[in-house]
Amino acid sequence: MSSVDLAAEPRHTDYLIEPMTPHDLLEVVEIEEACRLSLWGWDSYYGELARPEAIMIVARRARADKQTGHALYGFLSARVSAQELHINNIGVHEAARRRGVGDALMRVAVTTAMRQGAHAAILEVRAGNVAAQSLYRRYGFEVVGRRRQYYRDPPEDALLMRASLKSPT
Ligand SMILES: CC(C)(COP(=O)(O)OP(=O)(O)OC[C@H]1O[C@@H](n2cnc3c(N)ncnc32)[C@H](O)[C@@H]1OP(=O)(O)O)[C@@H](O)C(=O)NCCC(=O)NCCS
Repeated sequence: MSSVDLAAEPRHTDYLIEPMTPHDLLEVVEIEEACRLSLWGWDSYYGELARPEAIMIVARRARADKQTGHALYGFLSARVSAQELHINNIGVHEAARRRGVGDALMRVAVTTAMRQGAHAAILEVRAGNVAAQSLYRRYGFEVVGRRRQYYRDPPEDALLMRASLKSPT
């Protein structure tokens, strides 16, 4: 995995953005399933961790939840290729949403990719996923295309979003 640029990341009181490790993968897959994301699964994430162009990060709780054992608030998986950042998956535990975790993960991914020379970013998102689209728009993403019935279970169009990379407004 490529090194992660945390220099510009402010300190949070109850979590840290850190590189993902193989020990995180069980919970990453749990979050992925709970969020009903496109499923990569343990093997794919494990393989991705070894790729130098991958940006794999987690929001790690300062203290694991005693009841659930959860050590993470969320994760982001992305890759830089041909000077373009491709966000593959981002998910935050439902109970931890709207507290800036998704934004912190995006900020570190974008900063890291820019340092590696990326000048654009792309992703696909369910057409009805207003929360994610709203987060992405903060980073300059705009809809540039639509893929009919791209998703299954339930079937839904994908919006293709693209951004020229810049700091959040
Ligand atoms: C999308 C997701 C990652 C956002 O994570 P989060 O930690 O709740 O996001 P943040 O608290 O950092 O929110 C940052 C901004 O995103 C936007 N946003 C986040 N959730 C939103 C919602 N439910 N409705 C509208 N806007 C929302 C807002 O602009 C928000 O800023 P604000 O709180 O100051 O208004 C989270 O909702 C999630 O895990 N969803 C399920 C998985 C998913 O859809 N992933 C994307 C697949 S493409």
